[in-house]
Amino acid sequence: MNNSWAISTDNLTKRFGKGASAVVAVDHLTMQIPAGCIFGFLGPNGAGKSTTIKMLTGLLRPTEGTATVAGYDIQRATLDVKRNIGVVPEGLNLYERLTANEYLELVGRLHDLPADDIGERREQLLSVLDLIEKADTLVVDCSHGMKKKLALAAALIHRPPVIFLDEPFEGVDAVSARTIKDMLRQMVDRRNVTVFFSTHIMELVERIADQVAIINKGKLVATGDLKELRERARLDGHASLEEVFLQLVDAQVGETQLSWLVG
Ligand SMILES: Nc1ncnc2c1ncn2[C@@H]1O[C@H](COP(=O)(O)OP(=O)(O)O)[C@@H](O)[C@H]1O
Ligand SMILES: [Mg+2]
Repeated sequence: MNNSWAISTDNLTKRFGKGASAVVAVDHLTMQIPAGCIFGFLGPNGAGKSTTIKMLTGLLRPTEGTATVAGYDIQRATLDVKRNIGVVPEGLNLYERLTANEYLELVGRLHDLPADDIGERREQLLSVLDLIEKADTLVVDCSHGMKKKLALAAALIHRPPVIFLDEPFEGVDAVSARTIKDMLRQMVDRRNVTVFFSTHIMELVERIADQVAIINKGKLVATGDLKELRERARLDGHASLEEVFLQLVDAQVGETQLSWLVG
């Protein structure tokens, strides 16, 4: 595997259960993501996005296949991977009984950051993410959007070169979403950071991502930049990503089944 990729997967597979009832959540996923880009991992609900992120960040063990993150094998060098990534996972995994301040302090210490750095970075992150007023609020009392922003702050405090964000904008207000987007873009452009984010929203990918992969039923159905995806879908140059996406995942409106509702 080429270690110059920020993220690289080789037949990465996750099967839940055994025998006839087994679910192949991620099915022989092979892709390479260069450093210094925002990578949009797009797919409908249940496509396997969260499962992929969980495997790449050490929360789930693959059934089959391998992957490297920041040049480290996800199964053989788990600690090196963890040191080099920031993650906002599906379930956020925050400590609900700490305040926002205490939580960031804890995360900073777990990363062995000097106390001064923790203080300074914590202030800046809370301020930029408009969380200063919630600094002394218990996590459990924060709204979903605030928890998400706090999870993002925690994911960034040690300046990781690779960042994984699972549906980062879901439940986040438009102003914060814009701030987050600008922040990510600056990290990518100035520090060559790699951002891997998942979403089921096509427009988000179109607005934010440099590179895109489309996943459906655990399988990679397309990867590349928007232009390449359009070509692959044999649509004309003016087609929206939405059309490409719907064509690739073969979305159909089940009109007959819904006749009782829409008829
Ligand atoms: N722990 C689990 N046990 C069994 N099936 C699971 C588990 N986690 C996810 N799945 C299944 O794997 C598939 C992919 O799920 P997920 O990765 O969460 O999709 P996405 O994030 O794209 O919506 C779904 O069919 C889901 O029901
Ligand atoms: Mg998900």
